[in-house]
Amino acid sequence: MRTIEARNMVLGWLYRTLLKPIFFIFDPERVHEGMIRFGTVLGSFRLTRFITSLLFASPNDPMLRQVFMNVVFENPIGLSGGFDKNAVTTRIMPEVGFGFMEVGSVTARAYEGNPGKHLWRMPASRALVINYGLKNIGAEAISRKLDRQIFDIPVSINIAKTNCRETNDVAIGIADYVETFKKFLDIASFFTINISCPNVTSGQPFHEPENLNRLLIALDAVPTEKPIFIKISPDLTREQLDKILDIASQHHVDGFVCTNLSKRRDLATINPKDFVPGVGGISGKVVEPLTDEQIAYVYRRSQGRFLIIGVGGIFSAEDAYRKIRLGANLLELITGMIYQGPQLMSEIQLGLVQLLKKDGFTHVSQAVGIDT
Ligand SMILES: Cc1cc2nc3c(=O)[nH]c(=O)nc-3n(C[C@H](O)[C@H](O)[C@H](O)COP(=O)(O)O)c2cc1C
Repeated sequence: MRTIEARNMVLGWLYRTLLKPIFFIFDPERVHEGMIRFGTVLGSFRLTRFITSLLFASPNDPMLRQVFMNVVFENPIGLSGGFDKNAVTTRIMPEVGFGFMEVGSVTARAYEGNPGKHLWRMPASRALVINYGLKNIGAEAISRKLDRQIFDIPVSINIAKTNCRETNDVAIGIADYVETFKKFLDIASFFTINISCPNVTSGQPFHEPENLNRLLIALDAVPTEKPIFIKISPDLTREQLDKILDIASQHHVDGFVCTNLSKRRDLATINPKDFVPGVGGISGKVVEPLTDEQIAYVYRRSQGRFLIIGVGGIFSAEDAYRKIRLGANLLELITGMIYQGPQLMSEIQLGLVQLLKKDGFTHVSQAVGIDT
């Protein structure tokens, strides 16, 4: 373990002092596209996969292994939705140390992305602003790509409704979700129903109780035992959250992904040195306090009825551990990897084991919700 810790320290230092300053000179969307292409190439060959795992992975620790509804998670750190929109990195992400991943958001129809710029950095706040508006090549093309692929880690298909004017009609929006859902029934390890994208023309209509109920009735009618999570916004009020939890408890919903991006511009976590565009949702350290509060609330309110995937501003093992102690069963990240480097997943795994042992736990599940 000491060698892996040393390796992570060297890699993290190299990333933050050499690579990141170069990446951060260029437009963030171009860098993201470059990384996705590089990851796709690395994932295509056995040798490059092996070298990647030597550089970034760490041995699985039984303290971090969990099984939920027949899905095995060797470690609780997942890649969050939106990094791999078109499902091209499923072969390389296990070698980078992820215990599971989401692909998408996938929508029934392809969408080329919102007009104008899609991605900004907020370096002083350690955050990003995102305005892709659900850019992806569409459910048909993505399902064809994944068909018959055997995954090394659980892969969730993150489903949203196509970002176009027609789907603003609730019935058409629901049909759009269901069409994608059906296409991935044999492919997905589990599903994430994204009702909280902040960058679409329709707003977030499925945060409305009646619309959510109709959507979940339509999904219930599709027979599947695969776990279903709902991904919600960090900007919900307690009242909205209560209604969503009540409705979800009447349907085939196994858990919540807390949270998506924030639309708020009044947060104390926004450093005034950063330029913040008027459009887009904010990730990273800006959203972290909202996410943590929501994890604790959902945990307290649901009394074990729902699993929680905690996502928002995880940059270290300590961040990850705090979310677990507040009630998260699993975790996801994107922004932390961009700011800290691809050794972060291994750092978190090793750090989590140490933090758990220090507090006298023998398994990660014992720490879930302990602070709530
Ligand atoms: C570049 C980028 C694109 C994203 N696109 C999506 C998306 O398509 N669907 C989705 O559910 N969330 C999307 N998100 C939100 C993330 O999944 C996550 O909820 C959010 O970024 C908070 O986590 P983080 O602070 O670790 O990045 C995106 C985030 C980023 C950074």
